[in-house]
Amino acid sequence: MKNIVLTGFMGSGKSSVGKLVAKDLNYTFYDMDTVICERAGKTVQQIFDQFGEEYFRDLESEVARDLAKTKLSVIACGGGTVLRPSNIDCLRENGIIFFLDTPIHVIEDRMVLLAGRPLLVGATPIQLRKIFEKRKEFYENNDFSIHTENKKISAVAAEISEIYKAQTGIAVQK
Ligand code: S3P
Repeated sequence: MKNIVLTGFMGSGKSSVGKLVAKDLNYTFYDMDTVICERAGKTVQQIFDQFGEEYFRDLESEVARDLAKTKLSVIACGGGTVLRPSNIDCLRENGIIFFLDTPIHVIEDRMVLLAGRPLLVGATPIQLRKIFEKRKEFYENNDFSIHTENKKISAVAAEISEIYKAQTGIAVQK
């Protein structure tokens, strides 16, 4: 059975939604950043500070490859996992890619909650918008795009579960 892979910008709700979907399907939830940090024994900020972004991206690709081999998983990607299309290619081999489409003004409202994201440290609203715009084309690499604006986390999770069940033809016990 295919995994569920969640992509989306920082603050789009990948982890919160992913946990609910995993609970609904009785699947294992993986947060890529958490796996990276466990392996490195460091926070994302420490990895960026000490080794730089490319090193973080290499770790991220390694984790993407490993999680792609798991079964019955819900995988919340990091916001930048899409930057290397090969990450998405391998996650798609045994997964369906759901993009959480969240508009920039919603992300802006959540900026205070996004502490610990090295790319956003000291970022001005203009810089945030630049990153967001640059990312758009990468997020288009998805199987289903889910609008999240004005929806509760539970509603977004339910939408994903329903699509997944319809796609895979499973009737999962609640
Ligand atoms: C990043 C997003 C973060 C984390 C790192 C880089 C990005 O994950 O992987 O700070 O480049 O968008 P979240 O999307 O879970 O915040």
